[in-house]
Amino acid sequence: MSTQQALFLEKPKGDFVVNTRDIPTPPAGEILIKIHATALNPVDWKIQKYAAFIKNYPAILGTDLAGEVEALGDGVTKFKKGDRILAQGYFTNDRATFQQYTLIPERFIAKIPESLAFDQAATIPVAFLAAVTGLFGGKGLGAGLNPDVEWPAPQQKDQTIVIIGGSSSVGQYAIQLSKFLGFSTIVAYASKKHHALLADLGATQLVDRAAVPLEKLDTAVSGPAKIVYDAVASAESQEIATKIVSTEGAVITVGEDKRSEKPADKTFLNVFGSSFAPGHEVFGEKLWAKVGRLLEEKIIRPNRLEVIPGGLNGIVSGLKRLENNEISGEKLVVRPQETET
Ligand SMILES: NC(=O)c1ccc[n+]([C@@H]2O[C@H](COP(=O)([O-])OP(=O)(O)OC[C@H]3O[C@@H](n4cnc5c(N)ncnc54)[C@H](OP(=O)(O)O)[C@@H]3O)[C@@H](O)[C@H]2O)c1
Repeated sequence: MSTQQALFLEKPKGDFVVNTRDIPTPPAGEILIKIHATALNPVDWKIQKYAAFIKNYPAILGTDLAGEVEALGDGVTKFKKGDRILAQGYFTNDRATFQQYTLIPERFIAKIPESLAFDQAATIPVAFLAAVTGLFGGKGLGAGLNPDVEWPAPQQKDQTIVIIGGSSSVGQYAIQLSKFLGFSTIVAYASKKHHALLADLGATQLVDRAAVPLEKLDTAVSGPAKIVYDAVASAESQEIATKIVSTEGAVITVGEDKRSEKPADKTFLNVFGSSFAPGHEVFGEKLWAKVGRLLEEKIIRPNRLEVIPGGLNGIVSGLKRLENNEISGEKLVVRPQETET
């Protein structure tokens, strides 16, 4: 069996080390993917720092990927060797993406349109899944605005959505999906330097976070908001989101509930954006069947990005920059095939 390079987190709160591991063989229904680009997410440094999520060590992290089909398990029909694809990984070693090859079920994979490079496609899966699960997903997943991933989506005419953290990776996908959902007013709260980009993605009202403190955001929003999508997930963002949202609507937040008061008449949803999570598979399969079209028709456009050199060896410094809040309005990407041995 041939081997590959992978970045291992040796033990809880331990060091990251590049080492070799076997390239797995795809079981029935799954695809072995040669990863050309993987993106870094805040969860990756949080796992290392807080020993969250992972049960088995040494562990491989990373859950964003773009690459090509290397080998097919029995029964795979939608893809062939060499196809350019994107997918979301998971936190088990055979499904993680901080390595050169991984295994993903074909039902959670989409083709990359010619217009997108691997680096661009890798910026999409995790953050997009957080946004789309929270907005579209039905009971137990999200606000239920398009649970069957219909096309066109049911329209939210004359409705307002507020997106806190509009320039974050998740926020940018939430803005684009809000446009697809037909919200008449899409308010994005973000630094001024990102306002032109966010308007281009679909925001109809930009609020400068240097000019309006988060706790005063309600003063900048006129009328009731059906949805407040909180991509920041601090106690402050969750509290102002709860204040702004109407009783018919919902707050969607990307982290655990940190509010000191939890009004019973306001729906508050903590989103988990993964097709692999229990209860998410049916929605995930419907969604991934439409991802190629969303990209092809440019309804979803990738984040701006920076490629970190050095392949998997570049991840540790990149995660440190994410943890230090040095990344604004773009995604860090590495190319695992460029890892030196
Ligand atoms: N639950 C899930 O499934 C899930 C999935 C993905 C991510 N997440 C979580 O979602 C959060 C965002 O992830 P990401 O990858 O999108 O992060 P990111 O792109 O690295 O976020 C950086 C951005 O956050 C913005 N920001 C920070 N504090 C802000 C505030 N108080 N108000 C407005 N904007 C603020 C910054 O905006 P400016 O540049 O405009 O200053 C910056 O552009 C993280 O906490 C992550 O762990 C959760």
